Amino acid sequence: MSRKSASLRNLKIGVLLGGTSPEREISIKSGQAVAQALAARGCTVSLIDPADFPGNRCVFGDIDAAFVALHGEGGEDGFIQKQLERKGIPYTGSSPRGCALSLDKDKAKKVFRRSGIPTPDSRLMTTHNFERILKSFPAPFFVKPPQDGSSLGIFQVENASESRAGIRQALRRYRRLLIERKIEGREFTVGVLGSKALPVIELRPKAAFYDYQTKYTKGRCDYHVPAPIPAALTRKLQRLALAVHKVLELRDFSRTDIMVDGQGRPFVLEANAIPGFTALSLVPKAAAHAGIPFENLCERLLKYAVRRGRALSAKR
Ligand SMILES: Nc1ncnc2c1ncn2[C@@H]1O[C@H](COP(=O)(O)OP(=O)(O)OP(=O)(O)O)[C@@H](O)[C@H]1O
Ligand SMILES: [Mg+2]
Repeated sequence: MSRKSASLRNLKIGVLLGGTSPEREISIKSGQAVAQALAARGCTVSLIDPADFPGNRCVFGDIDAAFVALHGEGGEDGFIQKQLERKGIPYTGSSPRGCALSLDKDKAKKVFRRSGIPTPDSRLMTTHNFERILKSFPAPFFVKPPQDGSSLGIFQVENASESRAGIRQALRRYRRLLIERKIEGREFTVGVLGSKALPVIELRPKAAFYDYQTKYTKGRCDYHVPAPIPAALTRKLQRLALAVHKVLELRDFSRTDIMVDGQGRPFVLEANAIPGFTALSLVPKAAAHAGIPFENLCERLLKYAVRRGRALSAKR
């Protein structure tokens, strides 16, 4: 064992996983993978599922730091991060503010526009402006619940009048919907680790888009790492991911999803403060390509958290 990993040896780490969002199952997979990796590095790991506590108000127990492997509302929106801050427990990843900004796609897109980051034209639909938007916003477009991930609740509309009933139904369920112009082209995702962008991944889903089944069923999407694109485009996409990471006030790691249209113009769809974290997920895949195996990646994120915690207690 190297000297570096020895420093985590005696730490008690709570891996937060599960939760109550629709992405619970994915989070359990992420958390279990992380727990295994950290245990292999000599940490004493306990699994903490916020769903076991009323109102997701966790009892964290006696831990030195938390690895947050939660996805979606309650875990990736700043809620759990605020609890950890109140308890003075160092934790991996972004602050409550960065999480809240990036989980809300509509808010994030407003920040992108203010910062000159290209993102597809969109509207926020409610029952009040439903008719007006359907009339004025040209199809094809994507309909998205503003706060979910894993493509849950997302669908494409080719013809607004044919999809009217479906959109109404989604509106009843989610109250607000993001209506976003469809970008025809290629899809990429770019991870950020520390202050650097990871290799670009191109996704070639075998379905109409990168939907839930495609994301989590083996063989339904081809992944190309590094993306087979000119070096100038690689640099452009990496710069964009770093800019997104900065303007959304993200910390330590993130993953930005980008479409590139037929004319080579990139459009940022969204950023994830806590992207999928199984050994086969996209950020771990890109990190592995950059020479950072999964265990090292988990260890690195934990070290950022522990270092932050030590710096804070030194100030007190
Ligand atoms: N405007 C768009 N134009 C073309 N394709 C789109 C658009 N918006 C979404 N998609 C497709 O839908 C997928 C899911 O969209 P998006 O990344 O916004 O949602 P998500 O559910 O938050 O994803 P994640 O699992 O990364 O959190 C994208 O990966 C892409 O394949
Ligand atoms: Mg996405």
